[in-house]
Amino acid sequence: MLVQGTGGVSIFGLQIASALGARVLVTSSSDAKLERVKALGAGEGINYARTSEWEKEVLKLTAHAGVDHILEVAGGKSLAQSIAAIKPGGQIAVIGILANFSSDFPIFSLLLKQVILRGISVGPRRALEDMTRKFEQLQLHPVIDTVYPFGDALAAYDHLYRGAFGKIVIRVTG
Ligand SMILES: NC(=O)c1ccc[n+]([C@@H]2O[C@H](COP(=O)([O-])OP(=O)(O)OC[C@H]3O[C@@H](n4cnc5c(N)ncnc54)[C@H](OP(=O)(O)O)[C@@H]3O)[C@@H](O)[C@H]2O)c1
Repeated sequence: MLVQGTGGVSIFGLQIASALGARVLVTSSSDAKLERVKALGAGEGINYARTSEWEKEVLKLTAHAGVDHILEVAGGKSLAQSIAAIKPGGQIAVIGILANFSSDFPIFSLLLKQVILRGISVGPRRALEDMTRKFEQLQLHPVIDTVYPFGDALAAYDHLYRGAFGKIVIRVTG
C-alpha cells in the first residue's frame, strides 16, 4: 500500500494498513517525518520534494510490481503518478485534493491495468461504528499533532495549512 504525505488522513491509513499486516510505503516532503512514520509501521519512505518522480521509486521498491492500494490525497498530476505506481487490478482511493482539483491522466494505462479508481466521501454511521470497534480490538489510537483550545482555532487552521503530522484537534468544551 502507498499513502501520500503525513497528514491526518494518510497517517490513519498507514496505521490501519500496517495493523492489518500490509507493507506500507509513505511519501513525504520531509525526511524527519519519514523517520517518524517508521515507528508507526511504515516499510519505506520516499521524499516527494526531492524525488518528484516518486512513482518510479515505488516501482523500484516493489520489484516493478507496483502497490495494491494507494490513498490519493493530492489529485492533480499525482493521479497519473498513482496510475503508474499501482499494480494491475489495484485500487486507488481518491480521498483528497491537496494539490489540484483537475487531473490529466493516461486513460489507456488505467484501462490496460484495469485499475479501480474509487472516489471516497464520508461513509455511513454503520461503517464508522465497525471501524471504531476494530480500532478498539487493534488498540489503534489516532496520532494527534497538537490540541488547540477553541479560542486558538485560527492558529489550529494555520497549523493545518502548514502541514501537521497526523491530526490537529480543536477542543470545543472543557
Ligand atoms: N473524502 C473525505 O471524506 C475526506 C475526509 C477527510 C479529508 N479529506 C481530504 O483529504 C486531504 C487530506 O486531508 P488531511 O486532513 O490528511 O490533510 P492534512 O492533514 O492537511 O495533510 C497535509 C499533508 O499532506 C501532504 N501533502 C500536501 N500536499 C501534497 C502533495 N501534493 N502530494 C503529497 N502529499 C501532500 C503533506 O505531507 P508532508 O508534510 O509529509 O509532505 C502535508 O503535510 C484533504 O484534501 C482533505 O480535504 C477528505
